[in-house]
Amino acid sequence: MPPVLVFQGAVIHSLDADSLEIFQDATLIVHNGCVTELYKSVADVPHDAIPPSAEVHRIPFGDFLIPGFVDTHNHAPQWPMRGLGQGLHILDWLDQVTFPVEARFADPVYASKMYEHAVQDFLRNGITTASYYGSRHAEATHILAGVCHRVGQRAFVGKCNMDRNAPDYIREESAAASLRETAECIRHIRALDGSQDALVKPVVTPRFAISCTPELLRGLGEMIERDNTLAMQTHFNEAQQEIDATTKLFPEFGGSEADLYQSFGLLNQRAILAHCTIMTDYEKERVKELQCGVAHCPISNMTVGGGFMVAPIRDFLRRGIKIGLGTDSGGGWASQMLAVIRQAIIASNAQEVFSKGKDKALSLEEVFYLATLGGAKVLCLDDRIGNFEAGREFDAVWVTTSTELQSAMTPREEQDSLKRLFEKFVMTGDDRNMSHVYVRGRRVAGNGHAV
Ligand code: GUN
Ligand code: FE
Repeated sequence: MPPVLVFQGAVIHSLDADSLEIFQDATLIVHNGCVTELYKSVADVPHDAIPPSAEVHRIPFGDFLIPGFVDTHNHAPQWPMRGLGQGLHILDWLDQVTFPVEARFADPVYASKMYEHAVQDFLRNGITTASYYGSRHAEATHILAGVCHRVGQRAFVGKCNMDRNAPDYIREESAAASLRETAECIRHIRALDGSQDALVKPVVTPRFAISCTPELLRGLGEMIERDNTLAMQTHFNEAQQEIDATTKLFPEFGGSEADLYQSFGLLNQRAILAHCTIMTDYEKERVKELQCGVAHCPISNMTVGGGFMVAPIRDFLRRGIKIGLGTDSGGGWASQMLAVIRQAIIASNAQEVFSKGKDKALSLEEVFYLATLGGAKVLCLDDRIGNFEAGREFDAVWVTTSTELQSAMTPREEQDSLKRLFEKFVMTGDDRNMSHVYVRGRRVAGNGHAV
């Protein structure tokens, strides 16, 4: 039985997009990886709340706990090529830069090495949950899931499906082979930890409609219809070049990707739709009605793959569509959710200008919510993670702001309130300020001394 963990000090989390709670002297109690109590001040703590055997951590002034970041869109095999191929449009970028890199994951030795580095990099940056696209290779995808399971990162892991419109060296040989390997991957991932509570879960991952035959899309949709616990992720209305090619391949849907994916049974509340930049009112309505979630990837949207694309996040929030943030590593150059948060602010500023003031820019509270609880909702994990309410699992980052001499973080000053320190961390901090990273109460990364 692991000891009860107690954290005493500052705790910051979101209750919803507009409500950021900041407690200066909270007491947080963790049993078996789960938050059993969050007392908002020392005065609220009953005298018998802390068992004598508990491991008590005092959080010094200037340090605080935040929920771990949730990365709703991440291509693990693109980790070695983050940021490469600037200036290329999406389909050219895939052909010239991405596919040659992903092809290397046919080699399990290379895959083991890269996935180990990648997962550690994301964890070190406070990403306690990630939704990963693997490459098309089943063996490498097993390796990725195994690394997450071993090091203790919460993850969705999917073997990428692509049986057409890709070069011979990476295209799957048939829809039947792709479906067979997908089913095998799902079984393999579920066998890593047979319980309902597994940290690592499978996700059905058709790359996008361009790279999947109708037969393959139909087969994947049938898997989802047979098993309503299965998540699904794909790229959705990402860029004009992609939308034009999709419409050419599937003219019967009149340019609606929502109708296209839905016709194959792929859209439900467990669908994670990456990008959603070019969205008609009709597409927004369908995404809302079908309860799909949006993975907003502002870094890749504004750099590689199609120029300067800005997703209408304010309108999605207004409509009550679920939204989280994604690194989109490697279309996105960063492994850092802090960088994604900052870019989400920049993108929303651009959207405010483009919409002539109608879509107000996102606040600090809102972008932080998207990076934590918002992402948890997109992955249908908000009953488990996303904040520190009692009953949630303890996925957290212990932020230290007193290490400014070794980090780029704007220095702490006498008059800084906790809110100001939090803002300084979000806007200027980095992994050097992340002393301890926890998933389900287990310390999995961090540059502080293990405590
Ligand atoms: N569309 C299809 N595949 C990809 C990919 O790997 N990255 C991005 N950003 N878009 C895609
Ligand atoms: Fe992507």
